[in-house]
Amino acid sequence: MTSQQVTDLLQKAYGDEIETVMNYLSNSIVLDGVRAEEIKESLQQDIQEELNHAELLGNRLKQLDERPPGSAAFEAHQMSLQPPEDSTDVLSVIDGVIEAEEDAISTYRALIDAAEEAEDHVTEDLAVQILGDEEAHRTEFRGFRKEYEK
Ligand SMILES: [Fe+2]
Ligand SMILES: [Fe+2]
Repeated sequence: MTSQQVTDLLQKAYGDEIETVMNYLSNSIVLDGVRAEEIKESLQQDIQEELNHAELLGNRLKQLDERPPGSAAFEAHQMSLQPPEDSTDVLSVIDGVIEAEEDAISTYRALIDAAEEAEDHVTEDLAVQILGDEEAHRTEFRGFRKEYEK
């Protein structure tokens, strides 16, 4: 039997990935300046990875006889990741990305626990795999942060 908690977390994670794609895309377009170039490139790469995460989560929901939500069920949460008024304010985007990745990390940790509890090892395995990607994203942006602290 499918655990309700597993389904809820899969759907939440799916929505968060879509919101991340929206905000990484906007920020990768909005930012200006020499220092922004590397950040924009990194965001562009991550957009593809986050979209792939959403697809994997959606397919897992389908396998559990559930479905990924459409836009009517969408709720925005990433207030700190809105494109900055000042298009050269790269630091605010870096901080927003770190916060979004940390949020994703805690969601995937919760999903791992819930899936383990429900003995849903396929979902557990998927959450472990995605968690690894999110930790790598966080590490990359923490590195950018260090450069900006100088
Ligand atoms: Fe992701
Ligand atoms: Fe990520």
